[in-house]
Amino acid sequence: MERSFIMVKPDGVQRNLVGEIVSRFENKGFKLVGAKLMTVSKELAEEHYGEHKERPFFGELVDFITSSPVFAMVWEGENVIATARQMMGKTNPADALPGTIRGDFGVTMGKNVIHGSDSPESAGREISLWFKEDEVSEYNKQVDEWVY
Ligand code: TYD
Ligand code: MG
Repeated sequence: MERSFIMVKPDGVQRNLVGEIVSRFENKGFKLVGAKLMTVSKELAEEHYGEHKERPFFGELVDFITSSPVFAMVWEGENVIATARQMMGKTNPADALPGTIRGDFGVTMGKNVIHGSDSPESAGREISLWFKEDEVSEYNKQVDEWVY
C-alpha cells in the first residue's frame, strides 16, 4: 500500500491547524501510520529540501522550517501521494483553490501550512529521512472495508 510523508509546517502548528489537517486525512479515508511533533535541525531541513538548494528562497525556507516545531506524519492508502497533493492545493496559496488546505488556510508562498511528498521516489526518501523504521506502524483497521 502506498505511503506519503505529510508535514504540518511551523505556521500550521502555531495556528492550531494540526487537528483540522489530521481530520481531513482521516475523513478522506487514509490511515495514519506515523506521527510526531518535532523541532527540525538545520541539517534535516537542508537534506529534506536538498532539491531546492540552489534556489534563491532556500535560506528562507530552511530558516522557516527550523523556526518552530512541525508535525510530521506518514499516511497510507491507495494513491495517497497524488491525492494528498490534490488535498493540499497549489504551492502558492494565492493560486490554491478554496477547499484545499493551502486554499483554505494559506496566504503567502513561504508559509503554506503543509508539505506532502510529490512522487513515490520522494515519499520513500522523505519517510526514511524523517522516521525510524520502528516509528511507523503496520496495523489493520478493525472495521468493515468501507467504513473508516
Ligand atoms: P516546492 O517543492 O516547489 O513546492 P511544494 O511544497 O508544493 O512541493 O517548494 C518547496 C517549498 O518552498 C514550498 O512549499 C514553499 C517554498 N517556496 C518558496 O518559498 N518560494 C518559491 O518560489 C517556491 C517555488 C517554493
Ligand atoms: Mg516539493
